[in-house]
Amino acid sequence: MQEFPTIRPRRLRMTPILRDLVAETAIKKQKLIQPHFVVEGTGQVQEIRTLPGIVRNSVDELVKQIGADLELGMRNHILFGLPEAKDEHASGVSGDKSLICRALREIKKAYGKDVNVFPDLCLCAYTTSGHCGLVTPDGEILNDETNAILARAAVDYAQAGADMVAPSDMMDGRVRAIRQALDAAGLHNTPIMSYAVKYASAFYGPFREAAHSAPSSGDRKSHQMDMRNAKEAILEALQDAAEGADILMVKPALPYLDIIADLKHRVTQPLAAYQVSGEYASIAFAAQAGAADLQAVALESLTAITRAGAEIILSYFTRQLFAENWI
Ligand code: PBG
Repeated sequence: MQEFPTIRPRRLRMTPILRDLVAETAIKKQKLIQPHFVVEGTGQVQEIRTLPGIVRNSVDELVKQIGADLELGMRNHILFGLPEAKDEHASGVSGDKSLICRALREIKKAYGKDVNVFPDLCLCAYTTSGHCGLVTPDGEILNDETNAILARAAVDYAQAGADMVAPSDMMDGRVRAIRQALDAAGLHNTPIMSYAVKYASAFYGPFREAAHSAPSSGDRKSHQMDMRNAKEAILEALQDAAEGADILMVKPALPYLDIIADLKHRVTQPLAAYQVSGEYASIAFAAQAGAADLQAVALESLTAITRAGAEIILSYFTRQLFAENWI
């Protein structure tokens, strides 16, 4: 191997043009997805204490927001429904009149195929327990019964206009249940973006405040993955792929780059990563305190997630990135 002084790695760093020429990684705008929180009512634009710059919108305001987003060129949107009524059966998650179905219909009526809009699919915002599935009185989360509810909701969402569905509950076998239900309803072209590798993470803290979806007791460790494990990520990803997931997601993103980098070579499906609320909030609050350059740190994170192997990124920075032409 040649050495210094023949080898001088700095040669290719001398000008911005050369640096661009040899850069291996580029974040692509059309691969970013903006999360939205949807609430009941009209005229609602509620700030979220834990997520500076992100709001909860009622359906009418959400339609306006997505219209403004579309003007910026933002096409990909994930919706989180935050219903007022919750019950033991999570009955608000599905049905024609559910918050998410109403939001989907209105967005599709306004923008049709110009947007790719899809709901997060989970029970945690709809259950009184705040758990991602149905729970028995002694606290056990019922896997298969939950799958049936998720499958029904997926069909309702697709019929209301959802361009994809994104199950985030981490029940076993839910991708199969959802795929079968969609196919049985003739919705074979509705893709499933699976939260395949979702860790039980403290980085979801700001989201749970935003969504009022913290479990009322216990935690999510019986279904979300243990942060100490990497092999299990392979099992989860391959299982979901086999069950028919079209896109596989790893979540959170930055603390799990090793997982993303490993899966990149193991799956053929597009790989997505979710830069979650805690990742966003740490950068946003550090910037507010004058301790970080928001744009630089956000872009460094997004670049790292891309470099590790994620092709699609869900990020709360999406709108700001588009609006301020960061890239
Ligand atoms: C629903 C869901 C959560 C997130 C996405 N879907 C919360 C959780 O699992 O507790 C977190 C997203 C974020 O932190 O930005 N299960």
